[in-house]
This record gives sequence, C-alpha cells and structure tokens, in this order.
Amino acid sequence: MRTLSSLTQLLDPEVLADPYPLYHQLRAEDPVCWDPLLHAWVVTGYSDVVTVLHDFSAERTPSPEKLASIGLGDLGPIARVMVKQMLFMDPPAHARVRKLAAYAFTPHRVAVLHGHIRDVVERLLDRIAGAGRLDVIADLAEPLPYTITAEMLGVPLDDAPQLKVWSQDFAEMLGNFQHNPERAAAVGRSVDAMTAYFHDAVRSMRVRPRPGLIASFLEAATDGDRLTEEEVVANTIVTMVGGQETTTNLIGNGMLTLLRHPAELCRLHDAPNLIPSAVEEMLRYEPPSQQTARLAPYDVELGGKQIRKRQAVIAVMAAANRDPSRFPQPDRFDIERTDNRHLSFGWGAHFCFGAALARMEAHATFEALLRRFERFRLDGVADASLRWRTNLGLRGLVALPVAFERVGARELVGLPVAVQ
Ligand code: HEM
Repeated sequence: MRTLSSLTQLLDPEVLADPYPLYHQLRAEDPVCWDPLLHAWVVTGYSDVVTVLHDFSAERTPSPEKLASIGLGDLGPIARVMVKQMLFMDPPAHARVRKLAAYAFTPHRVAVLHGHIRDVVERLLDRIAGAGRLDVIADLAEPLPYTITAEMLGVPLDDAPQLKVWSQDFAEMLGNFQHNPERAAAVGRSVDAMTAYFHDAVRSMRVRPRPGLIASFLEAATDGDRLTEEEVVANTIVTMVGGQETTTNLIGNGMLTLLRHPAELCRLHDAPNLIPSAVEEMLRYEPPSQQTARLAPYDVELGGKQIRKRQAVIAVMAAANRDPSRFPQPDRFDIERTDNRHLSFGWGAHFCFGAALARMEAHATFEALLRRFERFRLDGVADASLRWRTNLGLRGLVALPVAFERVGARELVGLPVAVQ
C-alpha cells in the first residue's frame, strides 16, 4: 500500500480505478488529515463527515482577487456566478434561495417529469435494442439526464446537447481546476457562453413563459421576496450541472457494479421490486459525487486535530459510506441492505435538491433495462481497461460497452449471468 501524501493521488489512473483502499487506509490511519497539496483537511470517517456537512461553512468560493493571485484569473467570472448559487451559501442567504427554489420545484413538476422519464428511457432503449449492444454512458446515462434537464428547465430540447457540453466544462472546473490551469481560459469562455444563454432564456421567458424551472424561479415569491435575474441564472446553472454529471455517473457506476456482482444482478432480475433498495446501495457503494468541501467556521477540534477558522476541509462521502463503524461489511454490495443512510446526497441544509428526480431516473432506467434485456456482459473490453474520468470529485466512466440479449430471445432460463 502506498503512503498517503495527498488526495490528488486520485488522479493516478490506478487509484482512480479503485479509490476505496486509499479511503480505507486514510480512515484507519489518519481520519482527519492535512493534505499538503490541496491545502485542506481531508475527513473520511462517517460521523466526522456528518459533522463537517452539518456545521461547517459552505461559503467557500474564492474571490476573483484570490483566483488571480494563484494564476487562475480566467476563472473570476465563474466565481461571480458561484457566489450566487445555493450550493456555496450559508444561512440566512442559503435558506432564502433554497426556499424560493423549492417553491419552484414542486411535487407537481416532479410528477410531470416522471411520465416523461419513462418515455425517454424506452425511446433510448428502442434505438439500441436490435443491436444487442450499447455504450451505457453515451447511449443512455448521458442522453437521459440531458433530455430531462432541458425539459425540467423549460428550454428547447434541441439545446440539450449544448447544455451537456457546458455542464461537463463546469463540472471539470469544480473537480479539477487546481490541476488543469491550462484549461481555465477555455472553461471560463464556456461559463460565459452558458451564462449569456440563460440570461437570454430568462428575458424571453418574461415575454413568453414556457413551463419549467426557469419560469417557476421567476415567479417564485415568499413574503414579497423574489430571486433577482442573477440569482435565477446562477441557480439554474447549479441545478443543471448538479442534475447531469451525477445522474450519468449513478447509472454508469450502478450498471458496472451490477456487472461485477452477477449474483446480485440475477437477484434483481428476479425481483425488480428491489430496484429502489438496489439504487440506494449503488449510491452508497460507488458514489457519483465522492466528496465536497467546506471551510471551518471558527477554530475547532475534529478527530483530535485543531482546525483553524477558514481552513478548507474536504468531506469524503465515498469514504464515510464504507466506514465499518457505520455499515456492517461496508465493501459488500448488498441490494437488500437495510439501514442504508449513505451520504451520497449530502446531509443537512445542502442535502441534494434534486435527489427525488435522480432516484426517479435511476429507477426507471434499471426497471426498463432489466425488463427488456438479460445476459448483460462487458462488450469487447476487460474490466481492468475501463477508463474513469479524471475528476477528483465526480466519479464516472468515460465509456461502458455492454452486450445483452432481449428477454425471451433464448430459452435458457436460470443460467447465471455472464461477466467477462
Ligand atoms: C445521483 C445524482 C445526484 C447526486 C449523487 C447528487 C449529489 C449531491 C450532493 C452530494 C449535494 C450536496 C453537496 C454539498 O453539500 O456540498 C447536492 C446538492 C445539490 N444538488 Fe444534487 N445530486 C444528484 C442529482 C441532482 C439533480 C438531478 C439535481 C437537479 C434537479 C441536483 C441539484 C442539486 C442542487 C441544486 C444542490 C445544492 C443544494 C443546496 O446547496 O442547498 N442534484 N447534490
């Protein structure tokens, strides 16, 4: 086992392919440790991660001046958008924006999306059904959330692929910006274009509203308070980015985990009523979003370490989800695990705003895949050569080629599912 020097080891392809031994080592040897390269504390135990998510400050966007001082001045415009996003706010500002946003994202809106999600999944699967193979990422896990996101926001469906590109750029910046300074200018231009697009969308919605989150953000009012145009644009962007990369990763990581656990895949085929509990276990076992950051709100002791006010702290939810003091046999993938309060959607005030939608998309996807197809296996690629995106925070595959047969295509009932 390598000696830990920094969480940036996750950028090593070998560690990226399986970061869990590193997390276990960290939690066992130094559960609150100083990372000299990230200039941040790294926290890996379940109860410490909950404390950080619950008590520490989310207001962590570096000022444009700070970015300029570390040679990342190109990211200044992004920082100006981020400070208005709920994800990077503390109370009372956070509670105000979140309340107005929740007012816009009603159960009725989510219910409207529900039927649509099922139709989109069926259409995507119709396209590949005859071929007997698909790339789970390109053919399903990417187009489903980007189509649903466009519908959710109320922007033209034709714009969905462009939203996807912007969203990927923004996510790259969030997960990687310190290590890719040469990409900063291009990502800065991408965020400028995305911001201009949403300002235009807001203006045209004021004249001719289309049903969706942007129109609802504009209408949302509590006690005479409304979101400003800047706030509508900033929170549309965080909702769009939050809803795409993560959901793609949940479907991709979930499918790979099933392929790696053929007995569980068989069990799920036979008992689709277990899909909701299987999806929770996928979230715990291979979290789409592995970590998040906070700042210490004051001088504080955590895990026996003195953390100074405003020092950065990285809460590694993916490590907490495998903490043996919280989850018995944490490295076992068990689709019937009970008491599965994983941290993959966060905890406390910033608990994922779109968790219900993400769950709905994953349930519909696995339900349709397992109803229509069987005998899933990796297609022409060995497990060891699958490529993961180089992102410290968002964990997802570049591609996942899978072959399958249609249910009933062969009369071989009861054989174990093949995995290469
Ligand atoms: C599997 C899919 C998803 C995962 C794993 C995920 C994960 C998370 C996590 C961990 C947080 C908390 C971050 C923190 O505390 O720093 C969060 C917040 C958030 N998520 Fe998600 N998310 C997913 C899907 C979605 C979807 C579909 C949407 C949009 C509809 C969305 C929108 C947001 C927003 C706006 C926040 C900020 C909430 C706040 O600060 O109050 N997410 N998400």
